Amino acid sequence: MSDKSTGRQETGQIDTVMQEERLFPPSAEFSAQARVRSLEEYQKLWEESTANPEAFWGQLAQEELHWFEPFHTVLDWNEPVAKWFVGGKTNVSYNCLDVHLTTNRRHKAAIIWEGEPGDTRTLTYLQLHREVCRFANGLKSLGVKQGDVVSIYMPMTPELVIAMLGCARIGAVHSVIFAGFSAEAIADRNNDANAKIQITSDAAWRRGKQLPLKLTVDEALEKSPTVEKCIVLRRTGAEVEMREGRDVWWHDLVDAQSDDCPAEPLDSETTLFILYTSGSTGKPKGIRHTTAGYNLYAKKTFQWVFDHRDEDLFWCTADCGWITGHSYVAYGPLSAGATQLMYEGAPNWPQEDRFWKLVEKYRVSTFYTAPTAIRAFIKWGDQHVDKYDLSSLRLLGTVGEGINPEAWMWYHEKIGGERCPIVDTWWQTETGGIMMSPLPGAIAAKPGSCTKPLPGIVPKIVDESGREVEPNHGGMLCIAHPWPGMLRGIWGDDERYREQYWTKVPGMYLTGDNARQDNDGYYWIMGRIDDVINVSGHRLSTIEVESALVSHPQVAEAAAVGRPDELKGQAIAVFVTVRDAEPNDALAAELKLHVRKEIGALAVPSDIHFTATLPKTRSGKIMRRLLRDIAAGTEIVGDTSTIEDYSALAKLRDDEE
Ligand code: PRX
Repeated sequence: MSDKSTGRQETGQIDTVMQEERLFPPSAEFSAQARVRSLEEYQKLWEESTANPEAFWGQLAQEELHWFEPFHTVLDWNEPVAKWFVGGKTNVSYNCLDVHLTTNRRHKAAIIWEGEPGDTRTLTYLQLHREVCRFANGLKSLGVKQGDVVSIYMPMTPELVIAMLGCARIGAVHSVIFAGFSAEAIADRNNDANAKIQITSDAAWRRGKQLPLKLTVDEALEKSPTVEKCIVLRRTGAEVEMREGRDVWWHDLVDAQSDDCPAEPLDSETTLFILYTSGSTGKPKGIRHTTAGYNLYAKKTFQWVFDHRDEDLFWCTADCGWITGHSYVAYGPLSAGATQLMYEGAPNWPQEDRFWKLVEKYRVSTFYTAPTAIRAFIKWGDQHVDKYDLSSLRLLGTVGEGINPEAWMWYHEKIGGERCPIVDTWWQTETGGIMMSPLPGAIAAKPGSCTKPLPGIVPKIVDESGREVEPNHGGMLCIAHPWPGMLRGIWGDDERYREQYWTKVPGMYLTGDNARQDNDGYYWIMGRIDDVINVSGHRLSTIEVESALVSHPQVAEAAAVGRPDELKGQAIAVFVTVRDAEPNDALAAELKLHVRKEIGALAVPSDIHFTATLPKTRSGKIMRRLLRDIAAGTEIVGDTSTIEDYSALAKLRDDEE
């Protein structure tokens, strides 16, 4: 354990208590055929990229994107406003589709799709191009123009991607809203964005039931006065009411359209999309991304991190309602000419083995999912995995939260057959693409670490005064230089953008996460700045306490929060879901002992609450803020005798994300 000086608290540094020494280098075989084959090669690439970022990104932009008109300036940086590839004209839909039509990818599958009920469709690049053109022409026929905002609330069908690309083709701005949000949330977002068009479907399949998307949209549109038209995809066949003059069926709209719709040459900084994410004040923020820089960043990071090869079948399980679905379902893989699997439904429908069944059926080679899903697989039991042949997999990835080292080990052994590298990718809605991750052929993994920055990315860990902290001390994670995929602002709120990301630490982008670097230069994300637990002046990270708990064989998932304590300032309260043990006082005592052994007395929780499930956001993140409130409530403190289902409470905070 690290030495604790009282000065630490004033500087805002964080104490680290976790020791993770395991190292997993890629096999010689994997490295031999990788894009980046060794640590030395990675280091050279990173050093070149950061020594002269503009030359680096400028050259890549020329090579990787199609330019209707060339750019004259790589970066115009006037903090906090970045303009990349100034003067150039390109089109994201062109870069995802048209560029492949003159190559041998023309008839290659772009999307292999399976619906939740088991229906399937495959779209080649040529077919996808045709559908996108027809839909884009459909949008034009409704009067949609460059800069108009199109709000998309759809299930994970190919049409969701077609809608996004259709907008990109004509310069309309899409705002995808995850199809689990309430009518209120849709209306809030539509109003903030001044959305002109809504796209939805009759309903969506979810665990064998139909979610009435159109009904929810009808309610939302009552409160979305700017929306003029609503396009409705027939997905399940559910009966819906079509409002005369406002609602139009997708098939009626596109049936009459020509499949010729030239991609509009757009300025590099044309807004491509806005994507809403929560802010600490509760009012959702429309994170704004633009055309050329985002496109380049999604494409290159996809190729680097997933070591993409033409013969791969890539599967990212994220919904297009999140940034992961934007960058690694829609734009990254398609720009790179990849073939991807897209799945509509839940991982546990009709059974908990659905994902593995899909991997075996389609021979998936690269699989990218979230820690929350991995922890669910662990809880559901190995029997669901063991039935299937997963030997097609060659690379695994995770994103969205820190992965507890023991969950990493399970993923490595059970899913990866101890043969597949794991890329633990750290990034944010705001960053547009992956910022830190192992390059799988070059960088040995350590379970729980996102390892090193990607080319062109310069992370810094600083204390409250903005000074860089020493290795092995936690601090605020910042990014020192602009990068092409960075957000360009918050929709309609320049001041909030500046205030939130660019004021606290001068000259750097503030991520809002804490992190530390170890002696090998590896980065370890320590959770959100707001979640730090302060016990007797020692500032502890949530993930370290949680990972210690998850390393106990009976613990499936854990969340750690601070609650007020008269003596210590804060005491640690943990919420734990168990695998199949009896949750009782004896187990609680054992868990405390376990944490003491693993990471020390300081991190021993004062309260242990057993829970059937943890409250999560819709994208699967543990809602620590909510748990903090629960932990502070006196009625449940110290009570370990009952299992609560706190996830029910999460539903009360309906639209928090
Ligand atoms: O706290 C970090 C966590 O998720 C946050 C970003 O969330 P969001 O904008 O919803 O984007 C998620 C998908 C990119 C980060 O600030 N996070 C994401 N990936 C990781 C992570 N924490 C630890 N390790 C990761 N790999």
